[in-house]
Amino acid sequence: MSFYDEVGGAETFERLVHEFYVGVKSDPPLRALYPEEDLEPAERRLRMFLEQYFGGPKTYGEERGHPRLRMRHAPFPVTLDMRDRWMRHMLAAMETLDLPEAHAEVMRDYFARAALMMVNTPD
Ligand code: HEM
Repeated sequence: MSFYDEVGGAETFERLVHEFYVGVKSDPPLRALYPEEDLEPAERRLRMFLEQYFGGPKTYGEERGHPRLRMRHAPFPVTLDMRDRWMRHMLAAMETLDLPEAHAEVMRDYFARAALMMVNTPD
């Protein structure tokens, strides 16, 4: 069983990413970084990416190719403050999943490491 299945599969990732974007929408400085008026496509890309990363369907790669996430974030000025905001909304979204602690820890560790890697601009 993949980690993706262990944490609840498609339903879990849909909920996580949806709750995350509810947080983004409530946070004007972070929201301003997102280029599109409609966050739906961004929500879908993040969901597909996370599903793939955690061992689920590989739709992200089929549609978008190699993730190269740091490069894809280069157009957006990601400061430590923005990273903190992003993390706060992701951790809040994770709380709504009520995962067993061992699983939650794996995901939190990944998000903390990956989000720090996206920082590309001094505060
Ligand atoms: C876009 C993942 C951290 C801001 C994306 C995309 C993915 C992604 C998969 C879509 C890329 C594509 O296919 O075009 C992640 C992951 C992160 C992370 C896994 C850390 C764990 C951050 C942080 C910020 C940020 C810290 C800023 C505070 C954005 C913006 C976009 C984006 C503005 C463009 C929206 C779009 O059109 O998709 N991110 N990201 N990301 N991310 Fe991140």
